[in-house]
Amino acid sequence: MANVIIRPDWHLPEKLVTPEGDYRNRRQFIKELSLTAGAGMAAGAFSTSAAPATAVGNRKLYPGKRNAKYNPRVKLTAEAWGTGYNNFYEFTTDKELVRHPQIIGKFVTDPWQVEVTGLCKKPFKIDPQQLIADIGLEERVYRFRCVERWSMIVPWSGFTLRKIIEKAVPKRTAKYVKFVTAMIPKQMPGIARLPAYPWPYTEGLTMAEALHDLTFVATGIYGKPLPKQNGAPIRLVVPWKYGYKSIKSIVKIEFTAKQPKTLWETLSPEEYPFESNVDPGVPHPRWPQNIERLIGTGIQIRTQKYNGYAQVAPLYK
Ligand code: MTE
Repeated sequence: MANVIIRPDWHLPEKLVTPEGDYRNRRQFIKELSLTAGAGMAAGAFSTSAAPATAVGNRKLYPGKRNAKYNPRVKLTAEAWGTGYNNFYEFTTDKELVRHPQIIGKFVTDPWQVEVTGLCKKPFKIDPQQLIADIGLEERVYRFRCVERWSMIVPWSGFTLRKIIEKAVPKRTAKYVKFVTAMIPKQMPGIARLPAYPWPYTEGLTMAEALHDLTFVATGIYGKPLPKQNGAPIRLVVPWKYGYKSIKSIVKIEFTAKQPKTLWETLSPEEYPFESNVDPGVPHPRWPQNIERLIGTGIQIRTQKYNGYAQVAPLYK
């Protein structure tokens, strides 16, 4: 991230940016609270209005052990921005309204089931909390870049998607992985407002992309279970691709032989092609992709190819 800082064209107070040190002290504080007062009280002390119930029970598992390999030496985006400025069109297209209980409060994320199915030898259905118990959590700090030209740097807790893939034992004919978000119109007021959209929200990766070590399944953010607005109880994070690939609140993971149709590609193939990666060299019809703004900082930086994750380049030879 040693990028040229471009003159900011807007400004937000610097105090909204959490320095890494503050975040870690706060995590330590939460841990101490849970030791002295029990996890329940710690949860109450910092509960997000939209935190899912089961996950609150599991708060003591968070954050996962920090993976030093994925720990860029950069200031994290302030938690208020990372969990307060969201894209989740099933609820609303207004980024700052998503998290409000009037919008997302009816969304039930516990109990939850994820189905792993399709071209695999061991299909299964599982509660994400059981997956966490089986696999364990790690924490990774990733850069995250939306195609709308905003970006953030956030700590996710979760595990690699590869762990789920290995459990399912895909067949040799499986070439792609398709992901599907829950579609519950009664709980998701945004669906009725966008009737032309091909719901449910669907995304996909090639098998090679899905197996890459960077491809992460997140169940937490900022050392806590995911709040609903960030995709509770389980979502994908693919840090070298534009944010729309990082599908939220997943109910189905399916191995397929054919490239799956995704929601955004169906709506606008030139803007959201299946194979898109963060790349300032590939023009987008609406937004030039050479610059991004780091939310909550007033800073604009140059966008890097693969969002700086050059290790994925061999996937595209
Ligand atoms: N997943 C679903 N189901 N619905 C959405 O609208 N938006 C995508 C992605 N995943 C979206 C989604 C887009 S465009 C972005 S940039 C990221 O979620 C935003 O993730 P965040 O709100 O945690 O920052």
